[in-house]
Amino acid sequence: MKNLAWGITGAGHFLRESFEVFNELKRNQELKVTTFISRAAEEVIRMYGLANELSNISCGSYLEECYYEREQGASFPKTGRFLLQKYDALIVTPATSNTTAKLAYGIADTLVTNAVAQAVKGGVPVFIVPVDIAGKIESRMPFFIDREICMKCELCPPAQQCPRHAITDQISLLKCDGCGLCVTLCSYGAIRGGLAKLKVRDVDTRNVMILKELMGITVLNHPQKIPGMIGKLEKCKN
Ligand SMILES: Cc1cc2nc3c(=O)[nH]c(=O)nc-3n(C[C@H](O)[C@H](O)[C@H](O)COP(=O)(O)O)c2cc1C
Repeated sequence: MKNLAWGITGAGHFLRESFEVFNELKRNQELKVTTFISRAAEEVIRMYGLANELSNISCGSYLEECYYEREQGASFPKTGRFLLQKYDALIVTPATSNTTAKLAYGIADTLVTNAVAQAVKGGVPVFIVPVDIAGKIESRMPFFIDREICMKCELCPPAQQCPRHAITDQISLLKCDGCGLCVTLCSYGAIRGGLAKLKVRDVDTRNVMILKELMGITVLNHPQKIPGMIGKLEKCKN
């Protein structure tokens, strides 16, 4: 039995892929996963319709809890577990450019950056999957209203039937839970997700390079690399 800690930060990029990897790990291996969720991650996970999936991965029992940053005060007592050797590894995926920058400069003022600091101090291996590494990336967006297509219907079924009352003339992403009902209800196909093409900033690339040099931290370029690293971890321990 392995005990893993999963740190999630507020990136849409690689978010679904990270959930897929942890679901697969749970299906195929004897694992317990404690999840540490940044404030931004809590919002972004909901926007992408993934909030219900968290309980498949961290069911709430001992060493399988979901810890939300908003409930963890300013000193993050739960990250003390890394000093007590409760975990075999900490995996941060996806890691936003914000979290990557903080880690590169040793800042530990959020739940996930503090978990990394304590894990390194406790000798627990840390794996980080930064979203902004280099070049250009294509990132999945939450749902939005395409104004070129929207007919501004007086009775708008998506607005009337949204269970979260998230739709007015736009979608309030802080209310949206990504259920996708609105997409099916708009007869004109005006509500959709989509892909955004982004340029990675040079500062983010530099921060990833710094991260690669840091003690106790391994940088991975895709969540799919995680299962291989967990496998190697087992070999080292046995
Ligand atoms: C829908 C959505 C998607 C986002 N995706 C990303 C992303 O892919 N990469 C990133 O660096 N920030 C992304 N952000 C911005 C972060 O959530 C924001 O910088 C936040 O402060 C990060 O905090 P954290 O690093 O503590 O999680 C996204 C924000 C929203 C609303």
